Amino acid sequence: MKKLFYSIILMSISLLPNLAIGGPDRATLLSMSCAACHGTDGKSPGAMPGLYGKSSEYIEDQMIHFRNDERKGTVMNRIAKGYTEADIKLIASYFGNLANK
Ligand code: HEC
Repeated sequence: MKKLFYSIILMSISLLPNLAIGGPDRATLLSMSCAACHGTDGKSPGAMPGLYGKSSEYIEDQMIHFRNDERKGTVMNRIAKGYTEADIKLIASYFGNLANK
């Protein structure tokens, strides 16, 4: 009986992290850090180039170019270096798909 009790406790503990997940997916979360400059919907309010309407391929290519210093920018080289290629793909598909919604 005791064993059953403990295994139920253990099971509920191991299920807890799953409850915490939910909310925005990883692509949305990552893209939020770009929103400060490029706007939440990729339509930047000021002098920054907008991302809205640009294709995922274009955004991904530019991020890789910034990361490898093949394209020189003021801030984007440093920013792009903070992301893995997998993250860049996720972010690029997020912004690339905005115009299709
Ligand atoms: C601190 C402000 C800032 C943040 C944060 C920022 N950017 Fe930028 N972004 C810029 C500026 C400024 C440029 C113009 C190039 C440069 O000077 O670095 C740019 C250019 C770009 C370009 C090239 C656009 C074009 O038309 O060729 C892409 C793509 C881009 N950013 C993607 C992103 C992504 C994705 C993120 C989030 C991971 C991000 N940026 C976060 C300021 C920012």
